[in-house]
Amino acid sequence: MNTLIAKAEKQKVYIETYGCQMNLADSEIVASIVTSGGYDLTDTADNADVIFLNTCSVRDNAEKTIFKRLEHLKHYKKKNRKLVVGVLGCMAERLRGKLIGKQNLVGIVVGPDEYRKLPHLIDNALAGEQGIAVKLSRVETYDDILPLRTEGISAWISIMRGCDKFCTYCVVPFTRGRERSRPMNSIVEETKKLQDQGIKEVTLLGQNVNSYNDTEGSNDFSDLLRAVAREVPDMRIRYTTSHPYDMSDKLIETMAEYENICNYIHLPVQSGSDRILQMMNRQYSVEQYIERIGKIREFIPDCSLSTDIIAGFPTESIEDHQKTLDLMRRVKYDGAYMFKYSPRENTKAWKMEDDITEDEKKRRLNQIIEIQHIIAKQLNEDEHGKKFEILVEGESKKNEEEWMGRTCSNKVVIFPTKPGISIGDKVMVRVFNSNSATLFGKLV
Ligand code: 5AD
Ligand code: SF4
Repeated sequence: MNTLIAKAEKQKVYIETYGCQMNLADSEIVASIVTSGGYDLTDTADNADVIFLNTCSVRDNAEKTIFKRLEHLKHYKKKNRKLVVGVLGCMAERLRGKLIGKQNLVGIVVGPDEYRKLPHLIDNALAGEQGIAVKLSRVETYDDILPLRTEGISAWISIMRGCDKFCTYCVVPFTRGRERSRPMNSIVEETKKLQDQGIKEVTLLGQNVNSYNDTEGSNDFSDLLRAVAREVPDMRIRYTTSHPYDMSDKLIETMAEYENICNYIHLPVQSGSDRILQMMNRQYSVEQYIERIGKIREFIPDCSLSTDIIAGFPTESIEDHQKTLDLMRRVKYDGAYMFKYSPRENTKAWKMEDDITEDEKKRRLNQIIEIQHIIAKQLNEDEHGKKFEILVEGESKKNEEEWMGRTCSNKVVIFPTKPGISIGDKVMVRVFNSNSATLFGKLV
């Protein structure tokens, strides 16, 4: 048998990713594991022998989306009885055996710490045997696995896994397990390799990056950030997500010290009411949070900030809600991810009465969204006339004569391109117009 035929016989895996950036990074790890295990990847479900959904459980809606998708995948199974469908990620961890055979379809269920078993589980499933692997690990970081990155000038680097914060609404500590960090040296090495491959920007990822703790070298997150920034001075370095509790002076000072660490922090606040923050087990008060923002503004004056906000947590009164709106007006976030509270089984808040009606949650959420829109629009207008260095990412979605790039502060800028400009270049643009989500500029 020649190798070409052998290749043609490899079975194809299609991976579809839902949820957070951690899941996107995990899908690259999964891709690496299954290709090393003898399978090929495909970018369409139409010709796949195996379809994986890498799932999210953080809100009920996320899970509903997956169930809808599974319903749809039944059509594929009708056309190809041998098709293997697998559920990976947080939903696999949360629902475990309940997913096996779901909709006469799901043959493999694998949680976030068991991806090394995938090739074996696929082999078995193709032979008709269902499989489940959902043990959480205290040590698995996939440190030795080089993620299979397919395109682009930006790359994710997963630096830690799990979360020990146990916010009372959040399912992540149950679906992703205890916090554990990769060794610093290995992360620095990976960044260097990415630079050699032409990557221009890395995002250090974790559920809780700033509680990163390299037990081998007793390095904290600022030590890691400094080491990466020094190693690849021409690359842009971003990170997400941080917890206000771990937003140390040292971290803010390190960000201020290095040009190539981007001036952008995603700092979820969740609520502007101390009473609700306490019920959420967030471990900071509004004043402590504002004090951290003050420190950031003092050391990194042009730092842009984004946040997460939950509307309608149990017992949230109109006054609590008003306090969230007040906080938003005080901080003036450049961006925000805003959600209605969604009760999750196993969490502490699950036992609290979900006493805010759906309509009221929606009303509060809409107010939050509206205020955020006004603030972001104003902040973007304040940028008119200013010059920014942007990293060119490619054509704009709406018009191929216009290109898009991002400022160091993570703002999207659209500009008319010129011959000679390529993806991955850094160019200077002057901003002349904007809306709440985008800046419009001209090359200077
Ligand atoms: N309901 C609503 N939003 C939630 N988040 C996490 N858990 C829930 C929940 N049960 C939000 C938080 C978190 C973001 C990733 O998702 O704002 O920061
Ligand atoms: Fe969930 Fe809180 Fe951990 Fe974020 S810090 S993943 S919200 S438990």
